[in-house]
Amino acid sequence: MNIVDKINKLRREKGALILAHNYQMPAIQDIADFRGDSLQLSIRAKEAESDLIVFCGVRFMAETAAILNPKAKVLLPVKDAGCPMADMITDEQLRQFKAQHPGAKVVCYVNSTAAVKAESDVCCTSSNAVKIISSFPQDETILFVPDQNLGSWAARKAGRDVIVWPGYCPVHQWGFSVANLEKLRKKHPDYKLIAHPECDEDIVEQADEVLSTGQMERYVGENDKLIIATDAAFTDYMKHLHPEKELVHLSARARCANMRKTTMNDLLHALETEEHQVVVDPETAARAKHSLDRMLELSV
Ligand code: 13P
Ligand code: SF4
Repeated sequence: MNIVDKINKLRREKGALILAHNYQMPAIQDIADFRGDSLQLSIRAKEAESDLIVFCGVRFMAETAAILNPKAKVLLPVKDAGCPMADMITDEQLRQFKAQHPGAKVVCYVNSTAAVKAESDVCCTSSNAVKIISSFPQDETILFVPDQNLGSWAARKAGRDVIVWPGYCPVHQWGFSVANLEKLRKKHPDYKLIAHPECDEDIVEQADEVLSTGQMERYVGENDKLIIATDAAFTDYMKHLHPEKELVHLSARARCANMRKTTMNDLLHALETEEHQVVVDPETAARAKHSLDRMLELSV
């Protein structure tokens, strides 16, 4: 039996739900029950009826699924698939940040640990950050952690002053250059640029649209001739889905090392052994769930 058949047999026998983020390798995205961005995957995980969810992504995503759906056993096929940005602020650092700004409200990007979500008022993702920031009264002071780029972009869009924590995604912060964009613009003058809001302001301010990966997928479905500024695995997969379209990576080398860790063998191993369950301590999970539920209420 080949590996695809083995995975399919086991997922059927166990009634497992396989979720994959848009940056996973093509074979994983192809075999998943559902693929999407952080918000789409969180909603899928929350609504899942299956007792077993295999989350092909990084730890904060699987942790979020476990918090939103405490009945399900959530597996992360590769134990050390983390997100460096999520580790750029600890709950202790957040408590100190709050102490420096008494009375301020905290918006945390979903790319954060459960302990940081537990210390926050509301969570957000790249697809709803503007809406979440705009939901606060004008006179409220807002702290945004940990992504400085998403926080600053969403604040500009919402017309608000937001105090951002200096965290960033190494892939989106360092992966793209204006010089390369200018070169591509010369070669493809009629192409539009779509960029993820984790990119540096230099890139984001030149983008025609600033979108989450789920929003990008919709945009690619409806448009052609695009330069895409996000993890190259996303653009690769869009080319695989739409071979007729003219899609160009802003950089084909900008790839998240953690998202690339999960292989088909890891997925099979997770289904066979049910190892690497993601467990969040109940007290932290209950507090983190408040910020996630608030986000989901505000996102509809
Ligand atoms: P999306 O929610 O837009 O998929 O972003 C998640 C992420 O980690 C981007 O680096
Ligand atoms: Fe984290 Fe960046 Fe990887 Fe997304 S691409 S998971 S933000 S390191």
